Parts: sequence; structure tokens; C-alpha cells
Amino acid sequence: MTRIIAVASGKGGVGKTTLVSNLAAALSGFNRSVIAIDGNLTTSNLGLHLGIPLYPVTLQDVLKGKAKIKDAVYYHESGFRVIPADVSFENIMVPESEKMVGVFYTLAGDADFILIDTAAGLGKESLSTLKAADEVVVVTNPDRPSVTDALKVCKLAESFGTHILGAVINRVKKKRHELSVQEIENFLSAPVLGVVHEDSIVSEAIANSRPVVIYQPKAFVAQQFKAIAANLAGIEYKIRKPVFHKLFLWLK
Ligand SMILES: Nc1ncnc2c1ncn2[C@@H]1O[C@H](COP(=O)(O)OP(=O)(O)O)[C@@H](O)[C@H]1O
Ligand SMILES: [Mg+2]
Repeated sequence: MTRIIAVASGKGGVGKTTLVSNLAAALSGFNRSVIAIDGNLTTSNLGLHLGIPLYPVTLQDVLKGKAKIKDAVYYHESGFRVIPADVSFENIMVPESEKMVGVFYTLAGDADFILIDTAAGLGKESLSTLKAADEVVVVTNPDRPSVTDALKVCKLAESFGTHILGAVINRVKKKRHELSVQEIENFLSAPVLGVVHEDSIVSEAIANSRPVVIYQPKAFVAQQFKAIAANLAGIEYKIRKPVFHKLFLWLK
């Protein structure tokens, strides 16, 4: 059965597109077939994260009835399929939830996972995707503003009957002032599916137009993304701590 999962957040810039591109690549690495959809039709950038900013046929063409879905599906070198959105100003659009449902259900059965990168916030654009998906992963940073906004997304998902799989805490710097996993779980009343640390290798990978799990597969953050993918797929995966970390613990 195809799992249709929206990756959402209340606050922008928390790491949704980064999570979608890395989950798609990591799940493909675990032999799961994945279609990643850029459901963010106002500030689309999944294609940019994947090194293909311009596509001849995009999700906008499908939603406008100008193209068939199969013409908007592209293969990424990491093994998954992508339905990109047009990045140009002229093609900004807010999709109707029913049309998104139509897209998802045409694709259902054709993949193990459909991952949708959504727009931030609680506007019509993100609502329609949240409504159309079956499950949602909420991305947050470990600070009060993003967790507060994440709670709103959880409440909305609940009201639509979209199952909340849990939260991913991204950009963790391990500072004392940051909210802990426990605090975030309590606040959202949802499990934390995984944690991803702050690491400049993530931005470096994006600048090189590749998910970090492909760009630097052994990096600690890459393993953290893979652990979340494994969690979603029900696979056992153990993160290997870097040698210097073990040495530090031993010295302590
Ligand atoms: N774990 C991380 N460590 C360092 N930088 C990150 C991390 N995750 C995301 N970023 C940076 O944050 C920026 C915003 O991430 P993005 O995935 O585009 O957020 P969103 O899709 O939620 O708006 C990225 O361009 C990247 O440079
Ligand atoms: Mg984004």
C-alpha cells in the first residue's frame, strides 16, 4: 500500500524540503520506491535541492489540466521519482485540495511512499496538502516559536483526520536553551521520530544540489536522516557515532 505523507511545518525555513529530499534518497537506499512531490507551489524549491531547477512539465501543468501526471514524473539519480513544481513567478498557484487528492490517488499503488513537500504556515496552500495526505510529519526546530507553530499544524491535521506520525526536530545545536525531545513530545502530544543536528555539511550538500545522504553518506547528520527514513519504513538502523565522539566519551 502506498503511504501518502505530507512533510509540513508552521514556521518556514525549518527544514521541510531538506527532509523530503533526504528521506526520498534514504528510502530509495533501503529499496523502497518513492515519489517526492513539490507541493509548495508558491515558493517551490525541491527541484533546486535536487539539482534540477527547470523541468519542462511540472505539477502546475498537471493541476491546470495541461499535462498528464506521467509526463511530470522524473527520475532522480538517487533512485527515486520527483514531481517538481515550476519555480517561476508566473506559475505561482494555490492548489485546491480536491485536485491534490486527484494527483495523489492517480499515483497511489505505484510507489511505497509518496512524500509531499508542503508550503509553510496555515494558509490555503498548506491546508489543501495537509487535507489531501493520509499522514503527516511535522518539522520543527528546537525553539518555542517553531514548536508553537508546529502545534497548530498538528491541530489542523487532527481536524482533517490526517494521521500525525510525529515530529522531526531539525537544526539541533545541543545548546542548553533548546527545547528537549521530551518537552517537544509533551507540547505536541506526538512522538519525535528523529533528530537532525545543525551541520554546515547540510547547506554544503544543498549548494552542491544533492541530498546530504548522497553527498556525504557517512556524515552523522546523513545517518540521522537515514534513521528517520528507517523509522518510517520499519527498518532497523543504527547510527554510528564518529570516532572522535567515542574518544571524547572515553576521556570523560
Ligand atoms: N540540519 C541542518 N543543518 C544546517 N543547515 C540546515 C539544516 N537543515 C536545513 N538547513 C538549512 O536551512 C535552509 C532551509 O531549509 P529548507 O529545507 O529549505 O526549509 P523549509 O523547506 O522548511 O523552508 C536550507 O537551505 C539549509 O541551508
Ligand atoms: Mg521548502
